[in-house]
Amino acid sequence: MKISFLNQSFIDHIDKYKEIISQFSLSDYPFLPTLKDEQFIREIYSKVLKTATELANRTDALVIVGIGGSILLSRGILQGQNRDNVYFLGQGLDFDAFNKTLKMLKGKKLSLAFISKSGTTIECKLMFEYLKNFVEKENIVVISSKNSQIYKDAEKEDISCFEIPESVGGRFSFFTPVGMFPLAYAKLDFLKFYNGFLQEIKSFENDIFNSNEFSYACARKELSSNFQVESVISFDYKIQSLLPCICQLLAESLGKENKGIYPSPCYFSEDLHSIGQFMQEGKKCFFETFITCAKDEKNNSKNFNFNDEINNIKSIYKKYNSVACNSSIKAHADGGNKIINIELDSLSEEECGRLIAFFILSVLLYAKLDGVNPLNQGGVENYKSNMKKFLNE
Ligand code: PA5
Repeated sequence: MKISFLNQSFIDHIDKYKEIISQFSLSDYPFLPTLKDEQFIREIYSKVLKTATELANRTDALVIVGIGGSILLSRGILQGQNRDNVYFLGQGLDFDAFNKTLKMLKGKKLSLAFISKSGTTIECKLMFEYLKNFVEKENIVVISSKNSQIYKDAEKEDISCFEIPESVGGRFSFFTPVGMFPLAYAKLDFLKFYNGFLQEIKSFENDIFNSNEFSYACARKELSSNFQVESVISFDYKIQSLLPCICQLLAESLGKENKGIYPSPCYFSEDLHSIGQFMQEGKKCFFETFITCAKDEKNNSKNFNFNDEINNIKSIYKKYNSVACNSSIKAHADGGNKIINIELDSLSEEECGRLIAFFILSVLLYAKLDGVNPLNQGGVENYKSNMKKFLNE
């Protein structure tokens, strides 16, 4: 992975951030030592894998009930990998959306996983209590804090339970049963993602000031004085599927105390034909962060000939997608837009794990620069408690 900048002279001023970042320590964030404990994570994973494999072998589909940090990353990964035997419910209270998914599930033998750290989020609890009636007990799994009522009740009812460690909050919890179970059910190799995650943390720790995370966090901080919005852009389906989770991480961790940058996901080429117009010629209230994948040299050969390649549609799409990416970056840069390009080496599971670590670490650094606590989400909690209050009235 490497990071580059267009139309920015911020790199000349980066030293001014070193003093504050020299006080930064990963041990100040209790979820990180938990996630970095490889033996601990591998032990939990072997238990989760066993249960998930048994359930996958005896059922047709898995319904995951969860919202926000409890599902966004696993949903993105499964979507990017075209795993269509896992369904997500509990993300809203609109009956039509719920009913549409129910119809798709008709006739399937189901597994059901409830994923919620608190165990009390209304959207999810309502859905879980309803769906529980239609799924055999041995095919249900509860993933929650050990202290939650729902975890305690599930244990009493002999339902399989996996704990979300107390130190690990929603949007940081993918490398716990929260992400392990969905991936294992869908037969994706969780450990490949985890290895990439660990590698990125190690290389960050070795040299924070020369890390991609340091450059990205400082660039955002510089840009935040002139821009309110960060368009987070991708041309690749596997990355596009992760954009909601990346934007959540940035928004929920850093949007507080009247600070932060509003992250807006952009799906190119489609958005180039709609909001792309604004991005080139509208009000300059945003900067752009592209997440791209290194070019495949073979597909970029100058001799590329449409007629020769017509039978190789994959090669054509790769070539055209990469040309669309370069063309839009150039057009936007020529128009004066500030651009950050995070270029991945590949779209492999390991590189995806690195990307997750990259955003988590960058968020922690930026929070340090902005003086906010990245681990809480007071606004979200207010909404949740209002909802409970109004329902009880
Ligand atoms: O990142 C977060 O903390 C939030 O997005 C939560 O994950 C989300 O609100 C769901 O909470 P819970 O897992 O308690 O149901």
